[in-house]
Amino acid sequence: MRGSGSVGAPPGRVGAALKPAGALWALGLAVAVAGSAAATFEPVAARHGMVVSSEAHASEAGVEMLRAGGNAVDAAVAVGLALAVTHPFAGNLGGGGFMLIHWARGDSVFVDYREQAPAAATRDMYLDGRGQVIPGASIVGARAAAVPGTVAGLALAEQTYGRLGWARVLQPAMRLARQGFPVSYALARSLREAQGLLGRFPESRHIFLRDGRFYEPGQVFRQPELAETLEQLSAHGPQAFYRGPVAAQIMATMKKYHGLVSAADLAAYQAKLRQPLVGHFRGYTILSAPPPSSGGVALIEMLNILEPLDLGAPDSFASMRLMIEAMRRAYADRAAYLGDADFVSVPVVGLTSRAYAAQLRAEILAARPDAPVGAGQPERYESGQTTHYSVVDAEGNAVANTYTLNNGYGSGVTVEGAGFLLNDEMDDFAAKPGTPNMFGLVQGEANAIAPRKRPLSSMTPTIVLGNSGEKPPVRLVLGSPGGGTIINTVLEVLLNVLAFHMDIREAVTAPRFHNQWLPDEVVVEKWGFSADTLERLREAGYRLRERSRIGECEAVEIDAATGWRFGAADPRSDGKAVGY
Ligand code: DON
Repeated sequence: MRGSGSVGAPPGRVGAALKPAGALWALGLAVAVAGSAAATFEPVAARHGMVVSSEAHASEAGVEMLRAGGNAVDAAVAVGLALAVTHPFAGNLGGGGFMLIHWARGDSVFVDYREQAPAAATRDMYLDGRGQVIPGASIVGARAAAVPGTVAGLALAEQTYGRLGWARVLQPAMRLARQGFPVSYALARSLREAQGLLGRFPESRHIFLRDGRFYEPGQVFRQPELAETLEQLSAHGPQAFYRGPVAAQIMATMKKYHGLVSAADLAAYQAKLRQPLVGHFRGYTILSAPPPSSGGVALIEMLNILEPLDLGAPDSFASMRLMIEAMRRAYADRAAYLGDADFVSVPVVGLTSRAYAAQLRAEILAARPDAPVGAGQPERYESGQTTHYSVVDAEGNAVANTYTLNNGYGSGVTVEGAGFLLNDEMDDFAAKPGTPNMFGLVQGEANAIAPRKRPLSSMTPTIVLGNSGEKPPVRLVLGSPGGGTIINTVLEVLLNVLAFHMDIREAVTAPRFHNQWLPDEVVVEKWGFSADTLERLREAGYRLRERSRIGECEAVEIDAATGWRFGAADPRSDGKAVGY
Protein backbone atom coordinates (compact mmCIF):
# COMPACT_ATOMS: atom_id res chain seq x y z
CA MET A 1 0.00 0.00 0.00
CA ARG A 2 1.39 3.38 -0.92
CA GLY A 3 1.35 6.25 1.50
CA SER A 4 2.38 6.69 5.07
CA GLY A 5 -0.33 4.66 6.73
CA SER A 6 -2.23 1.49 6.17
CA VAL A 7 -5.39 1.72 4.21
CA GLY A 8 -8.19 -0.66 4.80
CA ALA A 9 -10.90 -1.44 2.34
CA PRO A 10 -14.27 -2.08 3.88
CA PRO A 11 -16.31 -5.05 2.89
CA GLY A 12 -19.14 -4.46 0.52
CA ARG A 13 -17.60 -1.50 -1.22
CA VAL A 14 -17.81 -1.63 -4.95
CA GLY A 15 -15.58 0.04 -7.46
CA ALA A 16 -12.63 -0.96 -9.55
CA ALA A 17 -10.30 1.38 -7.73
CA LEU A 18 -10.63 -0.57 -4.54
CA LYS A 19 -9.64 -3.85 -6.06
CA PRO A 20 -6.05 -3.87 -4.79
CA ALA A 21 -7.13 -3.03 -1.27
CA GLY A 22 -10.02 -5.44 -1.62
CA ALA A 23 -7.60 -8.21 -2.53
CA LEU A 24 -5.52 -7.48 0.54
CA TRP A 25 -8.64 -7.44 2.60
CA ALA A 26 -9.56 -10.86 1.31
CA LEU A 27 -6.12 -12.15 2.18
CA GLY A 28 -6.40 -10.68 5.63
CA LEU A 29 -3.16 -8.81 5.10
CA ALA A 30 -4.20 -5.26 5.66
CA VAL A 31 -7.30 -4.58 7.60
CA ALA A 32 -7.18 -1.22 9.26
CA VAL A 33 -9.71 1.25 10.50
CA ALA A 34 -7.38 4.17 10.26
CA GLY A 35 -5.34 5.44 7.42
CA SER A 36 -3.43 8.36 6.15
CA ALA A 37 -1.80 8.83 2.84
CA ALA A 38 -0.46 11.55 0.70
CA ALA A 39 -1.95 11.55 -2.78
CA THR A 40 -2.07 7.86 -3.63
CA PHE A 41 -3.94 5.64 -6.00
CA GLU A 42 -6.26 4.58 -3.21
CA PRO A 43 -8.66 6.74 -1.32
CA VAL A 44 -7.84 6.72 2.38
CA ALA A 45 -10.49 4.76 4.22
CA ALA A 46 -11.61 5.33 7.79
CA ARG A 47 -14.51 4.33 9.99
CA HIS A 48 -15.03 7.47 12.02
CA GLY A 49 -13.68 10.75 10.77
CA MET A 50 -11.72 12.12 7.83
CA VAL A 51 -9.81 15.32 7.17
CA VAL A 52 -8.39 16.14 3.74
CA SER A 53 -6.40 19.33 3.31
CA SER A 54 -3.53 20.71 1.26
CA GLU A 55 -0.96 20.10 3.99
CA ALA A 56 -0.20 17.12 6.21
CA HIS A 57 0.30 18.86 9.59
CA ALA A 58 -2.97 20.69 9.14
CA SER A 59 -4.90 17.50 8.32
CA GLU A 60 -3.39 15.92 11.41
CA ALA A 61 -4.41 18.94 13.51
CA GLY A 62 -7.99 18.29 12.42
CA VAL A 63 -7.87 14.62 13.36
CA GLU A 64 -6.30 15.57 16.71
CA MET A 65 -9.49 17.56 17.43
CA LEU A 66 -11.76 14.70 16.34
CA ARG A 67 -9.90 12.25 18.56
CA ALA A 68 -10.18 14.70 21.46
CA GLY A 69 -13.97 14.55 21.17
CA GLY A 70 -14.37 17.53 18.88
CA ASN A 71 -16.89 17.68 16.08
CA ALA A 72 -16.34 18.51 12.41
CA VAL A 73 -16.41 22.25 13.15
CA ASP A 74 -13.73 21.97 15.84
CA ALA A 75 -11.61 20.05 13.36
CA ALA A 76 -12.28 22.49 10.53
CA VAL A 77 -11.38 25.52 12.64
CA ALA A 78 -8.19 23.84 13.85
CA VAL A 79 -7.26 22.97 10.25
CA GLY A 80 -7.86 26.55 9.14
CA LEU A 81 -5.68 27.92 11.93
CA ALA A 82 -2.95 25.32 11.30
CA LEU A 83 -2.87 26.03 7.56
CA ALA A 84 -2.26 29.68 8.44
CA VAL A 85 1.05 28.43 9.87
CA THR A 86 2.04 25.56 7.59
CA HIS A 87 0.62 26.68 4.22
CA PRO A 88 1.32 30.42 4.07
CA PHE A 89 0.70 30.36 0.32
CA ALA A 90 -3.04 30.34 0.94
CA GLY A 91 -3.71 29.38 4.57
CA ASN A 92 -4.23 32.61 6.43
CA LEU A 93 -5.25 34.90 9.22
CA GLY A 94 -5.16 37.90 6.88
CA GLY A 95 -7.62 36.67 4.25
CA GLY A 96 -11.14 35.35 4.18
CA GLY A 97 -13.36 32.54 2.99
CA PHE A 98 -16.44 30.44 3.36
CA MET A 99 -17.34 27.51 5.60
CA LEU A 100 -20.26 25.27 4.69
CA ILE A 101 -21.49 23.08 7.56
CA HIS A 102 -24.01 20.26 7.33
CA TRP A 103 -25.26 18.54 10.47
CA ALA A 104 -26.15 14.88 10.42
CA ARG A 105 -29.47 15.84 12.06
CA GLY A 106 -30.42 17.49 8.74
CA ASP A 107 -29.76 21.24 8.82
CA SER A 108 -26.97 23.30 7.29
CA VAL A 109 -25.41 26.72 7.66
CA PHE A 110 -22.93 28.80 5.70
CA VAL A 111 -20.36 31.02 7.42
CA ASP A 112 -19.44 33.96 5.17
CA TYR A 113 -16.13 35.38 6.32
CA ARG A 114 -15.25 36.95 3.02
CA GLU A 115 -13.12 40.07 3.19
CA GLN A 116 -14.80 43.43 2.88
CA ALA A 117 -13.72 46.61 1.09
CA PRO A 118 -12.50 49.33 3.43
CA ALA A 119 -14.87 52.29 3.91
CA ALA A 120 -12.40 54.49 2.04
CA ALA A 121 -12.51 52.24 -1.07
CA THR A 122 -13.89 53.86 -4.19
CA ARG A 123 -15.18 52.51 -7.44
CA ASP A 124 -12.24 53.86 -9.45
CA MET A 125 -9.48 53.40 -6.91
CA TYR A 126 -7.40 51.20 -9.23
CA LEU A 127 -7.77 53.35 -12.35
CA ASP A 128 -5.32 55.94 -13.67
CA GLY A 129 -6.21 59.42 -14.89
CA ARG A 130 -7.29 58.04 -18.25
CA GLY A 131 -9.60 55.51 -16.69
CA GLN A 132 -7.33 52.53 -17.34
CA VAL A 133 -6.63 49.84 -14.76
CA ILE A 134 -3.22 50.41 -13.13
CA PRO A 135 -1.41 47.06 -13.52
CA GLY A 136 -0.79 45.35 -10.19
CA ALA A 137 -2.52 48.02 -8.10
CA SER A 138 -5.21 45.65 -6.84
CA ILE A 139 -2.77 42.75 -6.45
CA VAL A 140 0.41 43.86 -4.69
CA GLY A 141 0.87 45.88 -1.50
CA ALA A 142 -1.37 47.03 1.32
CA ARG A 143 -3.74 48.96 -0.95
CA ALA A 144 -4.77 45.61 -2.47
CA ALA A 145 -5.90 44.32 0.91
CA ALA A 146 -9.50 44.18 2.02
CA VAL A 147 -10.55 43.83 5.67
CA PRO A 148 -9.61 40.27 6.70
CA GLY A 149 -12.43 37.95 7.74
CA THR A 150 -10.72 34.69 8.66
CA VAL A 151 -10.30 35.21 12.40
CA ALA A 152 -13.88 36.44 12.78
CA GLY A 153 -15.24 33.58 10.69
CA LEU A 154 -13.34 30.76 12.33
CA ALA A 155 -14.13 32.17 15.78
CA LEU A 156 -17.82 32.55 14.95
CA ALA A 157 -17.94 28.95 13.72
CA GLU A 158 -16.13 27.64 16.79
CA GLN A 159 -18.09 29.68 19.32
CA THR A 160 -21.45 28.89 17.74
CA TYR A 161 -20.97 25.28 16.70
CA GLY A 162 -17.77 23.86 18.17
CA ARG A 163 -17.43 21.76 21.28
CA LEU A 164 -13.82 22.13 22.36
CA GLY A 165 -13.59 25.90 22.60
CA TRP A 166 -11.50 28.56 20.87
CA ALA A 167 -8.40 28.14 23.04
CA ARG A 168 -8.24 24.39 22.40
CA VAL A 169 -8.65 24.58 18.62
CA LEU A 170 -5.84 27.15 18.49
CA GLN A 171 -3.39 24.78 20.16
CA PRO A 172 -2.06 22.87 17.12
CA ALA A 173 -1.47 26.13 15.24
CA MET A 174 0.28 27.73 18.23
CA ARG A 175 2.48 24.65 18.61
CA LEU A 176 3.35 24.56 14.90
CA ALA A 177 4.21 28.26 14.88
CA ARG A 178 6.20 28.23 18.13
CA GLN A 179 8.06 24.91 17.79
CA GLY A 180 8.19 24.94 14.02
CA PHE A 181 7.77 22.12 11.53
CA PRO A 182 10.01 20.64 8.86
CA VAL A 183 9.70 22.42 5.54
CA SER A 184 8.46 20.14 2.77
CA TYR A 185 9.92 20.12 -0.71
CA ALA A 186 6.72 21.75 -1.97
CA LEU A 187 6.85 24.56 0.58
CA ALA A 188 10.55 25.23 0.00
CA ARG A 189 9.95 25.47 -3.73
CA SER A 190 6.86 27.60 -3.34
CA LEU A 191 8.61 30.10 -1.04
CA ARG A 192 11.56 30.35 -3.39
CA GLU A 193 9.24 30.91 -6.34
CA ALA A 194 7.51 33.73 -4.46
CA GLN A 195 10.68 35.75 -3.95
CA GLY A 196 9.63 38.29 -6.57
CA LEU A 197 6.58 39.21 -4.47
CA LEU A 198 7.74 38.51 -0.91
CA GLY A 199 11.17 40.05 -1.49
CA ARG A 200 9.57 43.47 -1.98
CA PHE A 201 8.52 43.75 1.66
CA PRO A 202 11.28 43.47 4.31
CA GLU A 203 9.13 41.72 6.93
CA SER A 204 7.95 39.13 4.38
CA ARG A 205 11.48 38.70 3.08
CA HIS A 206 12.75 38.15 6.61
CA ILE A 207 10.12 35.60 7.65
CA PHE A 208 9.44 33.66 4.47
CA LEU A 209 12.71 33.99 2.55
CA ARG A 210 15.13 33.97 5.53
CA ASP A 211 16.43 37.30 4.26
CA GLY A 212 17.37 35.67 0.98
CA ARG A 213 18.97 32.55 2.44
CA PHE A 214 15.78 30.54 1.81
CA TYR A 215 14.42 27.47 3.56
CA GLU A 216 15.65 24.12 2.34
CA PRO A 217 13.48 21.00 2.55
CA GLY A 218 13.77 19.45 6.00
CA GLN A 219 14.78 22.65 7.78
CA VAL A 220 12.54 23.67 10.66
CA PHE A 221 10.36 26.72 10.01
CA ARG A 222 9.60 28.57 13.26
CA GLN A 223 7.38 31.66 13.27
CA PRO A 224 7.67 33.40 16.66
CA GLU A 225 5.73 36.52 15.61
CA LEU A 226 2.86 34.44 14.32
CA ALA A 227 2.99 32.31 17.49
CA GLU A 228 2.67 35.53 19.50
CA THR A 229 -0.36 36.58 17.43
CA LEU A 230 -2.05 33.20 17.92
CA GLU A 231 -1.32 33.38 21.65
CA GLN A 232 -2.97 36.82 21.75
CA LEU A 233 -6.01 35.35 20.02
CA SER A 234 -6.07 32.53 22.54
CA ALA A 235 -5.72 34.81 25.58
CA HIS A 236 -8.02 37.64 24.46
CA GLY A 237 -10.30 36.06 21.87
CA PRO A 238 -10.84 37.10 18.25
CA GLN A 239 -11.40 40.71 19.30
CA ALA A 240 -7.63 40.97 19.79
CA PHE A 241 -7.45 40.91 16.00
CA TYR A 242 -10.17 43.46 15.32
CA ARG A 243 -9.80 45.92 18.21
CA GLY A 244 -6.83 44.89 20.32
CA PRO A 245 -3.08 44.58 19.94
CA VAL A 246 -3.15 42.79 16.58
CA ALA A 247 -5.43 45.51 15.18
CA ALA A 248 -2.82 48.07 16.24
CA GLN A 249 -0.15 46.13 14.34
CA ILE A 250 -2.35 45.97 11.25
CA MET A 251 -2.88 49.74 11.47
CA ALA A 252 0.86 50.38 11.68
CA THR A 253 1.44 48.29 8.54
CA MET A 254 -1.44 50.03 6.72
CA LYS A 255 0.10 53.38 7.57
CA LYS A 256 3.57 52.35 6.42
CA TYR A 257 2.37 50.96 3.09
CA HIS A 258 -0.51 53.39 2.48
CA GLY A 259 -3.29 50.84 2.82
CA LEU A 260 -6.89 51.92 3.22
CA VAL A 261 -8.08 49.59 5.98
CA SER A 262 -8.85 51.71 9.07
CA ALA A 263 -9.30 50.87 12.73
CA ALA A 264 -13.01 51.52 12.24
CA ASP A 265 -13.11 49.01 9.34
CA LEU A 266 -11.53 46.35 11.53
CA ALA A 267 -13.84 47.07 14.45
CA ALA A 268 -16.89 46.93 12.17
CA TYR A 269 -16.04 43.65 10.45
CA GLN A 270 -18.47 40.81 11.05
CA ALA A 271 -18.64 37.30 9.72
CA LYS A 272 -22.17 36.45 8.62
CA LEU A 273 -24.26 33.32 8.92
CA ARG A 274 -26.18 32.65 5.71
CA GLN A 275 -28.39 29.97 4.24
CA PRO A 276 -26.48 27.71 1.85
CA LEU A 277 -27.79 27.50 -1.70
CA VAL A 278 -29.69 24.29 -2.35
CA GLY A 279 -29.93 22.53 -5.69
CA HIS A 280 -30.84 19.07 -6.88
CA PHE A 281 -29.20 16.73 -9.31
CA ARG A 282 -30.63 13.32 -10.20
CA GLY A 283 -32.11 12.92 -6.75
CA TYR A 284 -29.06 14.19 -4.85
CA THR A 285 -29.22 17.41 -2.85
CA ILE A 286 -26.44 19.88 -3.58
CA LEU A 287 -25.52 22.39 -0.85
CA SER A 288 -23.20 25.14 -1.97
CA ALA A 289 -22.05 28.73 -1.62
CA PRO A 290 -24.51 31.65 -1.93
CA PRO A 291 -23.39 35.22 -2.80
CA PRO A 292 -20.96 36.86 -2.28
CA SER A 293 -19.70 33.74 -3.99
CA SER A 294 -20.75 33.03 -7.53
CA GLY A 295 -19.84 29.38 -7.00
CA GLY A 296 -23.12 27.88 -5.85
CA VAL A 297 -25.24 29.79 -8.37
CA ALA A 298 -23.08 28.81 -11.33
CA LEU A 299 -22.66 25.22 -10.13
CA ILE A 300 -26.39 24.70 -9.70
CA GLU A 301 -27.16 26.44 -13.00
CA MET A 302 -24.76 24.05 -14.81
CA LEU A 303 -26.08 20.98 -13.01
CA ASN A 304 -29.63 21.97 -13.90
CA ILE A 305 -28.69 22.30 -17.56
CA LEU A 306 -26.92 18.92 -17.61
CA GLU A 307 -29.27 16.90 -15.40
CA PRO A 308 -31.46 15.19 -18.02
CA LEU A 309 -28.79 14.87 -20.69
CA ASP A 310 -27.06 11.63 -21.55
CA LEU A 311 -23.46 12.58 -20.86
CA GLY A 312 -21.94 9.34 -22.08
CA ALA A 313 -18.29 8.87 -21.18
CA PRO A 314 -16.51 11.55 -19.15
CA ASP A 315 -13.78 12.41 -21.63
CA SER A 316 -15.80 11.98 -24.81
CA PHE A 317 -16.38 14.75 -27.29
CA ALA A 318 -20.12 14.59 -26.62
CA SER A 319 -19.90 15.08 -22.85
CA MET A 320 -17.18 17.69 -23.09
CA ARG A 321 -19.16 19.73 -25.59
CA LEU A 322 -22.29 19.73 -23.44
CA MET A 323 -20.33 20.64 -20.34
CA ILE A 324 -18.38 23.39 -22.12
CA GLU A 325 -21.61 24.94 -23.39
CA ALA A 326 -23.11 24.82 -19.90
CA MET A 327 -19.95 26.42 -18.47
CA ARG A 328 -19.94 29.17 -21.05
CA ARG A 329 -23.51 30.19 -20.27
CA ALA A 330 -23.17 30.00 -16.49
CA TYR A 331 -19.98 32.10 -16.55
CA ALA A 332 -21.61 34.67 -18.84
CA ASP A 333 -24.42 34.97 -16.29
CA ARG A 334 -21.85 35.18 -13.52
CA ALA A 335 -20.28 38.18 -15.23
CA ALA A 336 -23.60 39.89 -15.80
CA TYR A 337 -25.48 39.29 -12.58
CA LEU A 338 -23.31 38.23 -9.66
CA GLY A 339 -22.02 40.41 -6.84
CA ASP A 340 -22.45 40.90 -3.10
CA ALA A 341 -26.20 40.39 -2.63
CA ASP A 342 -26.12 42.70 0.40
CA PHE A 343 -25.38 45.51 -2.07
CA VAL A 344 -26.87 44.53 -5.42
CA SER A 345 -29.89 42.51 -6.35
CA VAL A 346 -28.79 39.10 -7.62
CA PRO A 347 -31.45 36.98 -9.40
CA VAL A 348 -30.43 33.81 -7.57
CA VAL A 349 -33.82 32.14 -7.89
CA GLY A 350 -34.05 32.81 -11.61
CA LEU A 351 -30.52 31.70 -12.37
CA THR A 352 -30.91 28.46 -10.45
CA SER A 353 -34.41 27.60 -11.66
CA ARG A 354 -35.05 24.50 -13.71
CA ALA A 355 -37.16 26.46 -16.17
CA TYR A 356 -34.28 28.76 -16.99
CA ALA A 357 -31.95 25.77 -17.34
CA ALA A 358 -34.42 24.17 -19.76
CA GLN A 359 -34.25 27.29 -21.96
CA LEU A 360 -30.47 27.21 -21.99
CA ARG A 361 -30.40 23.48 -22.64
CA ALA A 362 -32.71 23.86 -25.63
CA GLU A 363 -30.42 26.56 -26.95
CA ILE A 364 -27.38 24.31 -26.54
CA LEU A 365 -29.05 21.34 -28.21
CA ALA A 366 -30.35 23.43 -31.11
CA ALA A 367 -27.06 25.15 -31.81
CA ARG A 368 -24.57 23.76 -34.22
CA PRO A 369 -21.30 23.73 -32.27
CA ASP A 370 -20.30 27.07 -33.67
CA ALA A 371 -16.82 28.47 -33.95
CA PRO A 372 -16.20 30.67 -30.95
CA VAL A 373 -16.72 34.36 -31.46
CA GLY A 374 -15.14 37.49 -30.05
CA ALA A 375 -11.63 38.51 -29.27
CA GLY A 376 -9.74 36.68 -26.57
CA GLN A 377 -8.88 38.40 -23.32
CA PRO A 378 -5.59 38.51 -21.44
CA GLU A 379 -4.94 35.00 -20.24
CA ARG A 380 -4.30 34.41 -16.60
CA TYR A 381 -5.43 31.26 -14.90
CA GLU A 382 -3.82 30.34 -11.63
CA SER A 383 -4.06 27.21 -9.63
CA GLY A 384 -3.74 26.35 -6.02
CA GLN A 385 -3.52 29.82 -4.50
CA THR A 386 -6.56 29.38 -2.41
CA THR A 387 -7.00 26.32 -0.29
CA HIS A 388 -9.89 23.99 0.34
CA TYR A 389 -10.33 21.29 2.95
CA SER A 390 -13.04 18.80 3.75
CA VAL A 391 -13.93 17.28 7.11
CA VAL A 392 -16.33 14.58 8.25
CA ASP A 393 -16.67 13.55 11.89
CA ALA A 394 -17.77 10.31 13.53
CA GLU A 395 -21.38 11.48 13.76
CA GLY A 396 -21.57 12.25 10.05
CA ASN A 397 -21.43 16.04 10.38
CA ALA A 398 -19.49 17.62 7.55
CA VAL A 399 -17.60 20.82 6.82
CA ALA A 400 -16.41 22.13 3.45
CA ASN A 401 -14.13 25.13 3.90
CA THR A 402 -12.44 27.21 1.21
CA TYR A 403 -10.41 30.23 2.23
CA THR A 404 -7.80 32.40 0.61
CA LEU A 405 -5.42 35.32 0.46
CA ASN A 406 -6.42 35.48 -3.24
CA ASN A 407 -3.07 35.42 -5.01
CA GLY A 408 -0.41 33.05 -3.65
CA TYR A 409 0.99 34.84 -0.54
CA GLY A 410 -1.70 37.50 -1.05
CA SER A 411 -0.58 41.10 -1.35
CA GLY A 412 2.96 40.12 -0.27
CA VAL A 413 2.69 42.37 2.79
CA THR A 414 3.27 40.82 6.23
CA VAL A 415 1.81 42.68 9.18
CA GLU A 416 4.90 43.82 11.04
CA GLY A 417 5.43 42.04 14.32
CA ALA A 418 2.36 39.86 13.77
CA GLY A 419 3.84 37.43 11.26
CA PHE A 420 0.91 36.98 8.88
CA LEU A 421 0.30 38.03 5.29
CA LEU A 422 -2.46 40.34 4.11
CA ASN A 423 -4.76 39.43 1.26
CA ASP A 424 -5.13 41.07 -2.15
CA GLU A 425 -8.81 40.29 -2.35
CA MET A 426 -9.66 43.74 -3.77
CA ASP A 427 -8.67 42.26 -7.14
CA ASP A 428 -11.77 40.08 -7.05
CA PHE A 429 -13.86 43.19 -7.61
CA ALA A 430 -14.26 44.50 -11.14
CA ALA A 431 -11.68 47.32 -10.93
CA LYS A 432 -13.26 48.46 -14.19
CA PRO A 433 -16.45 46.61 -15.13
CA GLY A 434 -15.92 44.75 -18.40
CA THR A 435 -12.13 44.54 -17.98
CA PRO A 436 -10.69 41.16 -16.91
CA ASN A 437 -9.14 40.69 -13.48
CA MET A 438 -6.13 38.57 -12.51
CA PHE A 439 -8.02 35.38 -13.41
CA GLY A 440 -9.12 36.74 -16.78
CA LEU A 441 -12.65 36.93 -15.39
CA VAL A 442 -14.73 39.66 -16.93
CA GLN A 443 -17.20 41.02 -14.41
CA GLY A 444 -19.92 43.60 -14.42
CA GLU A 445 -21.48 46.47 -12.53
CA ALA A 446 -22.86 44.13 -9.89
CA ASN A 447 -19.29 43.55 -8.75
CA ALA A 448 -18.00 47.15 -8.90
CA ILE A 449 -16.06 48.36 -5.85
CA ALA A 450 -18.04 50.03 -3.07
CA PRO A 451 -17.22 50.78 0.57
CA ARG A 452 -17.72 47.76 2.87
CA LYS A 453 -18.92 45.59 -0.05
CA ARG A 454 -17.57 42.03 -0.34
CA PRO A 455 -15.85 41.16 -3.61
CA LEU A 456 -17.44 38.45 -5.73
CA SER A 457 -15.84 35.05 -5.22
CA SER A 458 -15.70 31.82 -7.17
CA MET A 459 -15.02 29.72 -4.08
CA THR A 460 -17.43 26.81 -4.04
CA PRO A 461 -17.34 24.73 -0.86
CA THR A 462 -19.96 22.07 -1.56
CA ILE A 463 -21.65 19.17 0.21
CA VAL A 464 -23.76 16.56 -1.58
CA LEU A 465 -26.44 14.69 0.32
CA GLY A 466 -27.58 11.19 -0.64
CA ASN A 467 -30.69 10.40 -2.60
CA SER A 468 -32.75 8.45 -0.15
CA GLY A 469 -34.42 8.90 3.21
CA GLU A 470 -35.92 11.86 4.92
CA LYS A 471 -32.58 13.11 6.18
CA PRO A 472 -30.21 11.84 3.54
CA PRO A 473 -26.68 11.48 4.81
CA VAL A 474 -23.67 13.27 3.43
CA ARG A 475 -22.34 11.64 0.32
CA LEU A 476 -19.58 14.05 -0.78
CA VAL A 477 -17.66 16.98 0.70
CA LEU A 478 -15.55 18.93 -1.78
CA GLY A 479 -14.15 22.21 -3.05
CA SER A 480 -11.05 23.61 -4.73
CA PRO A 481 -8.78 26.58 -5.23
CA GLY A 482 -8.12 27.94 -8.71
CA GLY A 483 -9.72 31.37 -9.12
CA GLY A 484 -12.25 31.24 -11.92
CA THR A 485 -11.61 27.54 -12.50
CA ILE A 486 -12.92 26.59 -9.05
CA ILE A 487 -16.56 26.24 -10.04
CA ASN A 488 -15.81 23.98 -12.99
CA THR A 489 -13.43 21.85 -10.92
CA VAL A 490 -16.22 21.26 -8.40
CA LEU A 491 -18.69 20.57 -11.23
CA GLU A 492 -16.40 18.02 -12.85
CA VAL A 493 -15.49 16.13 -9.67
CA LEU A 494 -19.12 16.09 -8.67
CA LEU A 495 -20.24 14.76 -12.08
CA ASN A 496 -17.40 12.23 -12.04
CA VAL A 497 -19.01 10.66 -8.97
CA LEU A 498 -22.72 11.26 -9.52
CA ALA A 499 -22.97 10.90 -13.30
CA PHE A 500 -19.90 8.89 -14.31
CA HIS A 501 -19.82 6.68 -11.20
CA MET A 502 -16.15 7.07 -10.36
CA ASP A 503 -14.97 6.60 -6.80
CA ILE A 504 -13.63 9.69 -5.10
CA ARG A 505 -10.00 8.98 -5.88
CA GLU A 506 -10.75 8.51 -9.56
CA ALA A 507 -13.02 11.54 -9.56
CA VAL A 508 -10.40 13.83 -8.02
CA THR A 509 -7.61 12.50 -10.24
CA ALA A 510 -9.43 12.56 -13.59
CA PRO A 511 -8.25 15.20 -16.09
CA ARG A 512 -10.07 18.53 -16.11
CA PHE A 513 -11.07 21.17 -18.60
CA HIS A 514 -12.39 24.67 -18.22
CA ASN A 515 -14.31 27.34 -20.07
CA GLN A 516 -15.27 30.63 -18.42
CA TRP A 517 -17.13 32.33 -21.29
CA LEU A 518 -14.34 34.87 -21.83
CA PRO A 519 -11.68 34.35 -23.02
CA ASP A 520 -13.45 32.24 -25.60
CA GLU A 521 -11.32 29.14 -25.26
CA VAL A 522 -11.30 25.75 -23.59
CA VAL A 523 -8.38 25.07 -21.26
CA VAL A 524 -7.48 21.37 -21.05
CA GLU A 525 -5.05 19.64 -18.76
CA LYS A 526 -1.99 18.54 -20.65
CA TRP A 527 -1.87 14.78 -21.37
CA GLY A 528 -5.35 14.44 -19.91
CA PHE A 529 -7.39 13.84 -23.03
CA SER A 530 -7.01 11.75 -26.11
CA ALA A 531 -5.71 13.45 -29.22
CA ASP A 532 -8.82 12.26 -31.04
CA THR A 533 -11.21 13.95 -28.64
CA LEU A 534 -9.21 17.15 -28.75
CA GLU A 535 -9.21 17.06 -32.51
CA ARG A 536 -12.99 16.71 -32.61
CA LEU A 537 -13.34 19.67 -30.27
CA ARG A 538 -11.08 21.72 -32.55
CA GLU A 539 -13.07 20.66 -35.58
CA ALA A 540 -16.23 21.76 -33.81
CA GLY A 541 -14.75 25.23 -33.52
CA TYR A 542 -13.39 25.33 -30.01
CA ARG A 543 -10.09 27.05 -29.43
CA LEU A 544 -8.07 24.86 -27.06
CA ARG A 545 -5.24 25.76 -24.75
CA GLU A 546 -3.21 23.33 -22.67
CA ARG A 547 -2.25 23.91 -19.12
CA SER A 548 -0.50 21.61 -16.65
CA ARG A 549 -3.08 21.66 -13.85
CA ILE A 550 -6.56 22.89 -13.12
CA GLY A 551 -7.67 23.16 -9.50
CA GLU A 552 -6.88 21.04 -6.46
CA CYS A 553 -9.84 19.21 -5.02
CA GLU A 554 -9.52 17.82 -1.50
CA ALA A 555 -12.57 15.64 -1.02
CA VAL A 556 -14.33 13.11 1.18
CA GLU A 557 -16.89 10.56 0.06
CA ILE A 558 -19.06 8.58 2.45
CA ASP A 559 -20.19 5.20 1.22
CA ALA A 560 -23.97 5.17 1.52
CA ALA A 561 -24.20 1.45 2.26
CA THR A 562 -21.44 1.06 4.83
CA GLY A 563 -20.79 4.53 6.18
CA TRP A 564 -17.07 4.23 5.49
CA ARG A 565 -15.32 7.53 4.87
CA PHE A 566 -13.00 7.80 1.87
CA GLY A 567 -10.60 10.69 1.65
CA ALA A 568 -8.83 11.74 -1.53
CA ALA A 569 -6.11 14.36 -1.64
CA ASP A 570 -5.73 15.70 -5.14
CA PRO A 571 -2.54 14.32 -6.74
CA ARG A 572 -2.03 17.83 -8.14
CA SER A 573 -1.21 18.90 -4.57
CA ASP A 574 1.01 18.05 -1.64
CA GLY A 575 -2.15 17.38 0.35
CA LYS A 576 -3.01 14.59 2.69
CA ALA A 577 -6.08 12.65 3.71
CA VAL A 578 -6.02 11.51 7.33
CA GLY A 579 -8.72 9.35 8.82
CA TYR A 580 -9.32 7.54 12.06
O1 DON B 1 -12.57 34.17 -4.14
C1 DON B 1 -12.12 33.88 -5.23
O2 DON B 1 -12.78 33.45 -6.16
C2 DON B 1 -10.63 34.05 -5.46
N1 DON B 1 -10.10 35.01 -4.54
C3 DON B 1 -9.98 32.72 -5.33
C4 DON B 1 -8.51 32.83 -5.55
C5 DON B 1 -7.89 31.57 -5.92
O3 DON B 1 -8.48 30.53 -5.97
C6 DON B 1 -6.47 31.67 -6.23
N2 DON B 1 -6.04 30.50 -6.84
N3 DON B 1 -5.91 30.39 -7.95
